[in-house]
Amino acid sequence: MKRLVTTAVVSTLLSLSVCAVAVGADDMGEGLSRACSSCHSARRVCRMLGAKDSKGWEKTVRRMVENGADISQDSVGAIADYLDNLKPGTGPMCP
Ligand code: HEC
Repeated sequence: MKRLVTTAVVSTLLSLSVCAVAVGADDMGEGLSRACSSCHSARRVCRMLGAKDSKGWEKTVRRMVENGADISQDSVGAIADYLDNLKPGTGPMCP
C-alpha cells in the first residue's frame, strides 16, 4: 500500500515537471509567432511544419535573421528544435 502511494506521488511529480516544460514551450511559441509574423504570415511557417527537420529549420531561421528577423544567434538552435517538434498543422504558428 505504501508503495502504491509512493508511486502515485512520484508520477504526480513527473507529470508536473512535464507541465513545466510544456509551459516553457508555450512561451517560446508566443514569442516566435510574434517574431515570425512581422514580415510574412505565421501560416508561412505553419505550412512548412513537418517538411523541414531541425537542421533545415536552423538554416531557414538563420536566413530569417539575415532577412532582418529580431532573433539572437544564440537562440537559433532552440527555435529550430522547437519548430521541428511541432506537429504539422498545430501550434501557435497555425492559428
Ligand atoms: C525581417 C522579415 C522576416 C522575419 C521577421 C521572418 N521572416 Fe521568414 N521570410 C522572410 C522573407 C523575405 C522570406 C522569403 C525569402 C526567403 O525565403 O528568404 C521568408 C520566407 C520564409 C519561409 C518560406 C521559405 C522556406 O525556406 O521555407 C519560411 C518557412 C519562413 N520564412 C520562416 C520564418 C520563421 C520561422 C521566422 C521566425 C523565426 C521568420 N520566417 C521570420 C522574411 C522574414
